[in-house]
Amino acid sequence: MTPDQLRQYLTFYRDLGIKTLYRRSVATPGGPIQADAEQQPSESPAASQVEEKPLPKVSKPEPLRIQPPESPLTLPILPALEPENDTLEKIREDIGDCTRCRLHRGRSKIVFGSGNPEAKLVFVGEGPGADEDAQGLPFVGRAGQLLTQMIDNTSAKEGMPVRRPHTYICNVVKCRPPDNRTPLPDEMEICGQFLFRQLMVIKPKAICALGSTAAKALLGTKEGVTRLRGKWHKWRDIPVMVTYHPSYLLRPYNQSAKREAWEDLKKVLHYVYD
Ligand code: URA
Ligand code: SF4
Repeated sequence: MTPDQLRQYLTFYRDLGIKTLYRRSVATPGGPIQADAEQQPSESPAASQVEEKPLPKVSKPEPLRIQPPESPLTLPILPALEPENDTLEKIREDIGDCTRCRLHRGRSKIVFGSGNPEAKLVFVGEGPGADEDAQGLPFVGRAGQLLTQMIDNTSAKEGMPVRRPHTYICNVVKCRPPDNRTPLPDEMEICGQFLFRQLMVIKPKAICALGSTAAKALLGTKEGVTRLRGKWHKWRDIPVMVTYHPSYLLRPYNQSAKREAWEDLKKVLHYVYD
């Protein structure tokens, strides 16, 4: 990789809002790379003289072992920088059997996403629960059933032909957090790169952020859902509607929020499909 490509790479990730790159060093095929004494003369003339003498092998000059900054050994192991040719399949492949964050320890299945890969509307949740972890599919448990009803019934009521399978649904983190706890900032940041790539590939007309974790991941705000909901925000150039997470709506004491969530969804559906 040339320094130019590396710069492009880092700019790409910075634009995604990723400030920390987690790297693993790998053994370079053919053994560790060392600076070549002939191609990269040491700054010290004495060092190259030492290299030419056959005898004092024990005292090999140290400076020659220093890796140049662009050495492959120091490069981050990250998905290929090909945003233009990126596909959902490639993203799934890059995730692989992921161990990039601690959430891999408790998961059964990675929950990548489901629905229409060309959806005009993407729903973003927080992370898989027990049912999703078991099936490897997002929003299939109780909250998922409510989400399906919300989409299908709102659309039907509005006389629209849209149903859940027309949309795409995924989460900020792809592995189930232990005891369904909220994902931690570093987990969101590490796994968020895949969410962002999914959104860039699908390029929906609008995104619906379900709950505060999705809102935080997409908008970078700590503001609660109550203040954010019902209004349009933006992730890159894509309009984002924030609304309550269906799990929140399942709690009996949050019934007034249901009406608001329905209003939010109505707004989204009309904006996207009218
Ligand atoms: N809650 C979420 O945030 N995502 C799911 O996939 C299921 C429940
Ligand atoms: Fe990898 Fe995301 Fe799972 Fe963490 S949550 S292990 S980053 S797939």
